[in-house]
Order: sequence, then C-alpha cells, then structure tokens
Amino acid sequence: MTKLSWTGFSKKTPLKRREHLKDNALLSQENQVLLDNDIQLSLETANQMAENVLGRFSLPFAICPDVMVNGDTYHIPMVTEEPSVVAAASYASKLIKRSGGFSAEVHNRQVIGEVALFDVADKEAAQLKIKEASNHLIALAKASYPSIVKRGGGPHRLWTEIKDDFLIVYLAVDTQEAMGANMVNTMMEALVPDLEELSAGKSLMAILSNLAAESLVTATCRLSIRCLSRDKNEAEYLANKMALASQLAQIDPYRAATHNKGIFNGIDAAVLATGNDWRAIEAGGHAYASHDGHYRGLSTWIYDQTAKELVGQLTLPMPVASCGGSIGLNPSVAVARDFLNNPDAKTLATIIVSLGLAQNFAALKALTSTGIQAGHMKLQAKSLALLAGATPEETKQVVKELITSKHMNQETAQAILKQIRKN
Ligand code: HMG
Repeated sequence: MTKLSWTGFSKKTPLKRREHLKDNALLSQENQVLLDNDIQLSLETANQMAENVLGRFSLPFAICPDVMVNGDTYHIPMVTEEPSVVAAASYASKLIKRSGGFSAEVHNRQVIGEVALFDVADKEAAQLKIKEASNHLIALAKASYPSIVKRGGGPHRLWTEIKDDFLIVYLAVDTQEAMGANMVNTMMEALVPDLEELSAGKSLMAILSNLAAESLVTATCRLSIRCLSRDKNEAEYLANKMALASQLAQIDPYRAATHNKGIFNGIDAAVLATGNDWRAIEAGGHAYASHDGHYRGLSTWIYDQTAKELVGQLTLPMPVASCGGSIGLNPSVAVARDFLNNPDAKTLATIIVSLGLAQNFAALKALTSTGIQAGHMKLQAKSLALLAGATPEETKQVVKELITSKHMNQETAQAILKQIRKN
C-alpha cells in the first residue's frame, strides 16, 4: 500500500481537500456525498434537539491529519472558530508521529452518580445500613435500567461519604458506549425512596457527576529534542524551557488555566465534531485539574536528558460516547466519526486525549520559542482581513501587509483594504 501524503493539504482549497479525501477513499461513499454537498442537520431535526429553534448555526469543520495513536493513524475532525488551533495540532501531531506517535490508555470507564441526603440524624449509623443494603441497592439500580445490564454494563460499586451536613451516596456505572447521563440519573432517582428509608433522612438531589474520576484516560508521547531545533544546544535549551513551562502550570493557577485552555482548544474541537457533550468534558477536566485541592496544568512535560527526549503526558476524564444523545442525528457527526473509522467510546477517548496533548505541545513550543503571536497572529490576520470585508482574492494581499504592520488589528486591516482598492 502506498503511503498517504498530506504534503500541501493545508494550502489546498476546501474543494481540492475534499478531492484528496475522495482520491484516497478516506470516507464511505455516503459520507463523502454528505460532505461534498454540505448536507447538515435538517431544520426539522434541529427543532427536535433543542427548544425555540430558529435555524442552524455553522462553524468551520476541519481535520488534523495523520495523528498516530497506539500504532494507528487517524485524521481527527475538529470543529473550532479559532484560527491556528488546527494548524498547531497538525504541526505537533506530525512531529510526534515522527517520534513514534502517542500511546494512550483508558484506565477505567465508569460514570458516577450521587444522591445527597440531608437531615440524617445519625450519619454513621445510616452509612452502615446503606453499606449492608448495597447489594439490594445495586439490584434496584439495575432493575431501573435493564437494557444496559443486558448489554454487559450497569452499576458496579456503591459507596458513601459524609461531607458537612450531607451523607452522600455514590454509584459507579459502566455505561458502555453511551455517555450515560439519562441512564445514571434514572438509576439515582430509583434509589431515592430506599435511601431515604435506610438513612431516615431526606434526599436533596439525585444526579450524575461530571467529575468522571472513574473515566480517566492518559496519553503519552516521547519526542527526540532534535524536533525542537537542529542545533543541539538550542534544542536542549528549548526542551528545558518546555519542562519549565510545565512546572509553571503546576504551581501557578493563573498559568494553569491558560495551559488547560490550550489543551481544550483541541479536545473541545474533537468532542464537538463527534457529537459529544463538551460542557461535560470541560467541567470534568477542570474539576479533575484540582483533584488534589490545587488547580494545576493537566499535562506535564519532562526533559529526559539521558534519552535526549521530551516526554509529555496528559491525564483527564474523557467519558465520551460513540452512540446516544445527538450522535445519530447529525449528518456532520456521521462524517466526523467516519474519518476516525467509527471508533468505540474507549478508542475515541484515547484519540481525543492524544489530540489535547498535541495541542499543548504546539502552544508550549510556540510560547517558549518564538512567542505565541508569530504563528497565531499570522493565521488570525486572515480573520481580520475577512472581518474588514476583503474578498478571498483581496485577503492574501491584506494578510501579507497586516503581518508586517505595526498594529495588527481590524482598523489596520480596513486601512490596508481601502488602499488596495484605491490602487
Ligand atoms: P510554522 O513552523 O510556521 O509552520 O508554525 P509551517 O508553516 O512550517 O508548517 C508546519 C506544519 O504545521 C504544516 O506542515 C502543517 O502541518 C501545519 P505542511 O502541511 O506545510 O507540510 N500548519 C498548518 N496546517 C494547516 N493550516 C495552516 C498551517 N500552518 C502550519 N495554515 C504554527 C505555525 C501555527 C503551526 C505554530 O506557530 C504553532 O503551533 N503555534 C501555536 C498556535 C496555537 O497554539 N494556537 C492556539 C490558539 S492560542 C491559544 O488559545 C492557546 C494558548 O494560550 C495556550 C497556552 O498558553 O498554553 C497559547
């Protein structure tokens, strides 16, 4: 089989990029037709998905080609409004592939639900009673949602914790291929009457938790520092700076928030493209970032001086789904999933976390070398030109002049455009 080449892909027009996909049979015929004809969510379906619907809302749909995860190559769909995100992910993935790609591991895949009990007079005694009844409670939860049990999933573990005025009952549920919000909420609500009776207290609420601490995924990569610079000394200097950037994100929450935002640039784009709930993934990721009581960067980079390699690692909850919710309703999601060979939920989670690490590598490399503005603003210039009203033909010229201008802003873009039109 000849190796698929992506050289020059970024320079092609969208139509030529689609041809590239077709020439290399990267999509099924059916999904290629959807893409070629811009077939998107119908108004009718949109109206079933949300309330007070007026129409549909578009965003750029792109791919980050050639990302190697656990030995397999993926072309990851990304939906984002921000310039330079896809470029940065593509750039980093290409370098990381040359060094062997990502290895990624799913530690567990269970979603946690909770029932918070209050007005419990003797919390310790109630805790004991609930513990003794845990088999019965798990059976109750199973009976409330039998279809997941038939599929080999369902509730696995029940435990309690006393926190201030509350006795909280947690349930870990294997939701298989689904995100499982409805299923876990149904189970938690089914437990309420028995839990109130056992604790002689009242239920405040029964709901799943987005801190999916039992759905952790880790992606790792090792890159030869030669990819940072051909000059040995400079490469070592930059590798040390990347490690320092990682250290800074561990100790300074101001930096950690931006560091993590950069990771979510990639993660959100793929989560959105694959029809998953990005608010749940963001909430879980940020909550996990402070799991030891201090908000920290989710990834770490270490310079291995012996191997002369930069070692990156990213761990966060990634309870994404391969079915359920709106996944089967949106034609764009069908195209996105096809790019990834319709992965199961665990494989999808490894791909998305790897993309997050690639995104983080590109941002840290830019920040510790040229600075973020050089690459990011070069691509941001396109948006400024378009905002100023430039046609696609004029955009090239406006961008060229904007990059070398003193103040790269919309006012300058408008002035350049005016001048071009005058000439
Ligand atoms: P460069 O070295 O100038 O790139 O970097 P290049 O022109 O030599 O191209 C190298 C490869 O990058 C290309 O290979 C593409 O794979 C990719 P080729 O296809 O040419 O063989 N690439 C592109 N792909 C698609 N479209 C493009 C494109 N350009 C390059 N137009 C680059 C340029 C932007 C990649 C680099 O400067 C970079 O990675 N910068 C970081 C940008 C970034 O992180 N953006 C995110 C938004 S900023 C933010 O929100 C997060 C942040 O605050 C997070 C944090 O603080 O940690 C920064």
